[in-house]
Amino acid sequence: MQKLIGPFSQVITLAGLPLKGSIEDEQLEIIENAGVSIDENGNIIEVKAFTSFNHSDFDEVEHIDQASVLLPGFVDCHTHICWGGNRARDYAMRVAGKPYLEIAKAGGGIQDSMRKTRGASEEELIDVTVERANRHFSRGVTTIEVKSGYALDIDNELKMLRAIKKANGQTSPELVSTCLAAHMKPKDFEGSSIEYLDRALNELLPQIKEENLSNRVDIFTEETAFNVEESTYYLEKAKAMGFEITVHADQFSTGGSEMAVKLGALSAEHLESSTDKEVDLLANSDTVATVLPGASLGLGMQYPPTRKLLDAGACVAIASDWNPGSAPMGDMLTQGALLGAMEKLSTAEVFAGMTFRSAKALNLTDRGQLVQGKLADMQAYPCDDYREILYNQGMLPPYKVWKQGR
Ligand code: NIG
Ligand code: FE
Repeated sequence: MQKLIGPFSQVITLAGLPLKGSIEDEQLEIIENAGVSIDENGNIIEVKAFTSFNHSDFDEVEHIDQASVLLPGFVDCHTHICWGGNRARDYAMRVAGKPYLEIAKAGGGIQDSMRKTRGASEEELIDVTVERANRHFSRGVTTIEVKSGYALDIDNELKMLRAIKKANGQTSPELVSTCLAAHMKPKDFEGSSIEYLDRALNELLPQIKEENLSNRVDIFTEETAFNVEESTYYLEKAKAMGFEITVHADQFSTGGSEMAVKLGALSAEHLESSTDKEVDLLANSDTVATVLPGASLGLGMQYPPTRKLLDAGACVAIASDWNPGSAPMGDMLTQGALLGAMEKLSTAEVFAGMTFRSAKALNLTDRGQLVQGKLADMQAYPCDDYREILYNQGMLPPYKVWKQGR
């Protein structure tokens, strides 16, 4: 069933923009008074002037009767939205000055979310994941990566990944799952870090393959989690098993992104502590540099060197990192707007970072631009100039969101 939607005051297609490096707003393709035609599989057929479509060619015409700017749906390529409980207590301590890593050492942090997530049933985890995913959808996010990593033992990591898979069948946005069993060695594991990683490699990853729960593996590379040597050991083996790899890198100290580039990881994510050396390495690689402004906001720390990364030629994706600890806000729109203001990004760079560039971080090339053949994942804002979207700093949400044209 073919469908036509329009007219939109402006359609910002993001067509023809480079995958890497800086972008100016003048490079944006803006089609005015436009319509979008969509095929029976939810893919875009054409974007052009609404009046130039022959309306009788369509089984359905969805009329837009207000000023609207249409953008591709956002792709949030880094979240941890499957978790039990909350960490409001940690947050209160952090804003009052206690450092994140100190709270973690004292048994708060990830270990605390682990206890609460282990204690939650699969059904409870499905429910909270669906609820958060649908809230994200109402704010324009049509694809959401979701990590495990708050269970940290074989059975409970599998519980999380099964919950994410089942949640995917119940949400409007599409969920892409990632195994983050290497988030941290749990306090109750008696053995070395390598022994912990070996258990994941030998007992967890094969089962994930068996049940088709994920094809992505992530690790938190940091002295307080897994060091570069341990991370390299794990990721090389995971890659050899056929998993795509990504890294929590350079959040508090460097080493992770350099390793990610060496190993040919799809992305290195966080980067708050990256220096000019890491900027250069990332820019000269195919590894996507994913920045997470929500973690800077949640921890009250500096933003990643986003302007430098773009100027050096990196592919910069922007994601929410939505999680119970470091990034509880979970709103891409607000975070993209704030990051742009602080790092001096063009609107085009923010939009690209939250759409086709973040899709690249998930190895997805079928979305993120409103062009022929790509998914009709779209969001419409109640304004007639695209610049009003970030100007409102999150307070002008989309009034309508489509996943594959629906
Ligand atoms: O991306 N840095 C490691 N992991 C998560 C935070 C996890 C947590 O605090 O619960 C992150 O920031
Ligand atoms: Fe994260």
